[in-house]
Amino acid sequence: MAELRPTEILISEAQIQQRVAEMAVQIRQDHPDDLHVVAVLKGAFIFMSDLARHIPGHVSLDFMALSSYAKGTTSSGEVRLQKDLDSALDGRNVVIVEDIVDTGLTLTYLQDILRSRGPKSLRTACLLSKPSRRKVDVKVEYIGFTIEDKFVVGYGLDYAEQYRNLPHIAVLG
Ligand code: IMP
Ligand code: MG
Repeated sequence: MAELRPTEILISEAQIQQRVAEMAVQIRQDHPDDLHVVAVLKGAFIFMSDLARHIPGHVSLDFMALSSYAKGTTSSGEVRLQKDLDSALDGRNVVIVEDIVDTGLTLTYLQDILRSRGPKSLRTACLLSKPSRRKVDVKVEYIGFTIEDKFVVGYGLDYAEQYRNLPHIAVLG
C-alpha cells in the first residue's frame, strides 16, 4: 500500500491569510467588548495563532484538547476530552476556534460542554467545513472555506501527526 502524502494545494497560504484576517475583523465586530477565544488542540493551533494576531483590542485565549480521530482518515464518532480549559466561562462572550467541521460530532460535543458552563454568548469559528460529510446539524457562525469531501492536511491539520506545519491546505492522496 502506497503511503499517503500531500498532493495538490487546495488553499494557498495567501488565500488563508486573507480569509483569516477577514474572519478576525468579523469576530471583533460581533464582540466589541469582552471576547474570550477557545481553541481546540492540536488542529486549531496555527489558525488560532494567526486569527488572534488579527483581532484588534482586548481578547483572552484558552485551549482545550479533544480527540475524535484515532489514526487514519475516517471518523470514529467517539470524542474524548483530553485537556480542559484553564478558566471559567460564565458570563463571557466565547468563540470556539476549530480547524475543521466534518461530521459535526466533535463540535456538537464541545458546544454542549461549553454551553453548560454558562457563557453569555457562544459562537464557533472553523477554518474549514465539509458540509457533505455532516452527520449532525451543528451551528458554525464563522466558516473560512467550504470544501469538498477530501481529506486535507496542513495549517494545523494532520494525517497521523504529520503535515501540521505546511503553510497551506493540501489534499492527501
Ligand atoms: P468531526 O467530529 O467529524 O466533525 O471531526 C472533526 C475533527 O476531525 C477535526 O477537528 C479534525 O481533527 C478531524 N478531521 C476531519 N476532517 C479532517 C481532514 O480532512 N483532515 C484532517 N483532520 C480532519
Ligand atoms: Mg481537531
